[in-house]
Amino acid sequence: MPLPPSFLEDIRNRLPVSEVVGKAVRLTRAGREFKACCPFHNEKTPSFYVNDDKQFYHCFGCGAHGDVIGFVMKQGGLTFPEAIESLAAQAGLSVPQSDPKEREVYDRQKSWSQLIERAARFFQQQLRTGPGRAGLDYFHNRGLDDDAIERFRLGYAPQDAQALIVALKREGFSEADMLELGLIKKSENSEGYYSFFRNRVIFPVGDRRGNIVAFGARLLAGEGPKYINSPDHPLFHKGKLLFGLSRARAAVQQKQPLIVAEGYMDVIALAEAGYIGAVAPLGTAMTEDQMLALWKLLPKPEDRQPDYDYSPILCFDGDNAGQKAAGRALERALPLISAAQTLRIAFMPLGEDPDSLLRRSGKLALQNILDQARPLIDVIWHQALEGRRLQTPEDKAMLKTVLRQYIGMVGDESLRRLYEKDIQDRLSHLFGYKNYQKQGAGQTSAFTRNKPETGFIARRLPPKPNERWERIILATLINHPDLMEEFGEDLARHPFSRSDYRDISAHMDRIFAEFNHEPLDAAQFYGHFSQAIKSAPDAERLQVGLSELLSETTYIHAEFARPEQGSETARNGLRETWSHIHAKQTDSDIEAARLRFNADPSEENEQRLFAIVNAQQTWQKADDE
Ligand code: UTP
Ligand code: MN
Repeated sequence: MPLPPSFLEDIRNRLPVSEVVGKAVRLTRAGREFKACCPFHNEKTPSFYVNDDKQFYHCFGCGAHGDVIGFVMKQGGLTFPEAIESLAAQAGLSVPQSDPKEREVYDRQKSWSQLIERAARFFQQQLRTGPGRAGLDYFHNRGLDDDAIERFRLGYAPQDAQALIVALKREGFSEADMLELGLIKKSENSEGYYSFFRNRVIFPVGDRRGNIVAFGARLLAGEGPKYINSPDHPLFHKGKLLFGLSRARAAVQQKQPLIVAEGYMDVIALAEAGYIGAVAPLGTAMTEDQMLALWKLLPKPEDRQPDYDYSPILCFDGDNAGQKAAGRALERALPLISAAQTLRIAFMPLGEDPDSLLRRSGKLALQNILDQARPLIDVIWHQALEGRRLQTPEDKAMLKTVLRQYIGMVGDESLRRLYEKDIQDRLSHLFGYKNYQKQGAGQTSAFTRNKPETGFIARRLPPKPNERWERIILATLINHPDLMEEFGEDLARHPFSRSDYRDISAHMDRIFAEFNHEPLDAAQFYGHFSQAIKSAPDAERLQVGLSELLSETTYIHAEFARPEQGSETARNGLRETWSHIHAKQTDSDIEAARLRFNADPSEENEQRLFAIVNAQQTWQKADDE
């Protein structure tokens, strides 16, 4: 439906660029122009100019440039017709409609849209009525304040199956339309209708522009599925939309990551914690269309900053089901990825989702998990290796076959070749063809701090079995530095699975040494230690790691690590933890040494294998005593 050029002229003439832009960013006058901080890239000093005479905006920082229509499209993420419609409304013009059929479709959609909007308002109002109190209490109990409830337009659907119907009919809407949009159902044993959502809290779902098109609803009490969602209808396609999508658009411009969580509550908790790029699929696993919708929010490749990772982060549970779900997401994504559109995957700690992690352990703990999000190449590697036996040539050939299958799924040809190359490198590293022989003799101890990363064992994805133990050890020793005397040696030899833990332990080690290994008072030690962390070159990373390991996430698994515990309790707990670590550590070291020996049965490799087995036996004896 082409629009007459004169109509576009009308829009441009009636709406000064500054008026439209001024609704989205704060403009200050600069001579004949206006300036502002650019909404399309991150900046602190304004380089974004608006010129009403010339009817355009221009950013000298990122090169964004266009007229009032272009601005609305880019800023609001609208298509051309959507932008025209919005601007025409602001200018008091009506968009010329050529075809009466199109007009009819357009009008019908408009009235459906109004109907859903009214339903959303009804549910919102219910939250403030007597029976709605249960819903309001529910949200409050989950940590949401009235502001958040308002922002997300949360609501309550009453038990009364007629209440919504009566209210909407009073406003002139028909039951036929309510039925079409999945708000009501036909009764099986009578003429009438009943509300689909009853005695549930309501999460309205907006489309790309934020217009409500559907609802998710959580059961408060009684029987039934925990969540139900609006069925698909002309304005809503479950598999194409994401909860939070319209809000997430702004995230990219503010250098906030796009995050895909599982549920409504996760998105809300994330957004409340400042992660405005949070979205969730609507009761299904993430689809290809949803991935495409997410990638569409990203700036064009030429507008991106070269040092920033734009890829959305998919969050999964740390358990087996989560690993499986990640595998399925991987298989969906690989045919679609390219240099400019890919994903990362983060695993939550066991038994947590983003909502529970934020509430229980705070934002730093969550940030830490997001920082550990893995690129897809790592996920492939992990999926192929996890739990696989690798002793015979046949085992290794099988691994290669599985890896080849994954790589074959990558749709983009040049990217696929790079995946191939990367996997090749990892395989040679894993089988130790090149790397091991280079290391001289004398490095036979498994516990030198500079131990090279041992292939897949060091690169496993979380949940890393050792990580929790390591956290407990560090926390206990930081809170009880008098135990450094006894355990400092073990600490120094331990190959930590995370670089921040390694650095933190090195700082502890150094401070202990500086004080000539004298028993230190906890407050004194912590004073020096936190000073050292603060002035480290990568202080921020260490502080994040530190605050996570000194939090409830650690203490929940190890009461003895708490600062208020007595020294004896802490000591006993620590001894036990070390014996776990030694057992686990040597298991994976033996595995690695055996792999090397299989690939290259040299005398040196044999000795190495024996050395580790012997060391394990020594520890087991020590632990038994
Ligand atoms: P979960 O059941 O994993 O979420 O559902 P949760 O964290 O335990 O839920 P809360 O925190 O107790 O509220 C995650 C998402 O899966 C969909 C919903 O979209 C939900 O947000 N879901 C879940 C359904 O569609 N139906 C169900 O019966 C359950
Ligand atoms: Mn939850």
